[in-house]
Amino acid sequence: MVYQATVSAPVNIACIKYWGKRDTKLILPTNSSLSVTLDQDHLRSTTTSRADPSFTKDRLWLNGVEEEIKPNSRTATCITEMKRLRANLEAKNPNEPKLSQFHVHIASKNNFPTAAGLASSASGFAALVKSLATLYQLPSTPSELSLIARQGSGSACRSLFGGFVAWEMGSSPDGSDSLAIEVASREHWPEMHALICVVSDDKKGTSSTSGMQRTVETSALLQYRIKHVVPERMKLVSEAIKTRDFNTFAKITMQDSNQFHAVALDTEPPIFYMNDVSRAIISLVVEYNRVSVDAGGPIKAAYTYDAGPNAVIYTLKENAKEIIELIVKYFPQANQFRDPFGLFGENGVQGK
Ligand code: PMV
Repeated sequence: MVYQATVSAPVNIACIKYWGKRDTKLILPTNSSLSVTLDQDHLRSTTTSRADPSFTKDRLWLNGVEEEIKPNSRTATCITEMKRLRANLEAKNPNEPKLSQFHVHIASKNNFPTAAGLASSASGFAALVKSLATLYQLPSTPSELSLIARQGSGSACRSLFGGFVAWEMGSSPDGSDSLAIEVASREHWPEMHALICVVSDDKKGTSSTSGMQRTVETSALLQYRIKHVVPERMKLVSEAIKTRDFNTFAKITMQDSNQFHAVALDTEPPIFYMNDVSRAIISLVVEYNRVSVDAGGPIKAAYTYDAGPNAVIYTLKENAKEIIELIVKYFPQANQFRDPFGLFGENGVQGK
């Protein structure tokens, strides 16, 4: 009997950013966050998990290269937690094979650059947890699994859902209420699109883990953001999503990206995730929106940047083609535009 499961999980891109932990072991955040899960074939992690009595230890391969699973590491925690859920199920159903007692081999592959600020850890840990849940035939809901994915990488908890997803920070010290919930399904707002502009696929300079820790320790602006900014933005963005109000969604998304990078700059020593090309794309989006608004029209695009220089531009379907043409015109060196919603065919639009 072969006990094996393969699943994939997508990347999510936050419009209200998670940045800062109040508990680094359990990965409990200092603020709630909200994201859009990208739902096409690009930007996914695909993971196969296998349990077998002949395996002598748990092993992990990332993009074909074996990575050591260190004791107490995040990967080890996720595997242990999933085995615990399986053991509970076996205790209730004595006829179930004792998979919780076998070691597992896990192989995961990303179809996009790893650690370039494209949230590879989010899709990676979500796929790992989902593949073990499938292998172990667990009845757990996505929110329950999000509690475990969160302990791999905070943002991973949001990739357990499609569509528009909130990670509620919770207040319990054991993390039992720090989980992901669906704000709205993908079908609720099918016109919403996300364009990914790969400015650079180099590995990022400061990892989110060490960056966050430094920010929590040194930034006064972060404390202001946690108390006085994010709670209101969470409400406003959730409402904007529910009412399909792109104007409000876009405004807050851009403000929150700006504040996240301001908080990074307010860290000692400062952290710079964006580069000159990132900033030039911001100027282009700002100007594009200004022309529309001055003519009495709506805001048509919202940029956002994670812990890297790559731009994500949220827009409604009707404007996507125009924006891609603009970017390719002004950034002919742009190496590739990704179009996770599949508007422009398999490979997105290639720059020259
Ligand atoms: O989950 P991590 O540790 O990779 O942190 C992700 C942080 C940001 O991508 C910058 C923001 C977010 O909410 O995804």
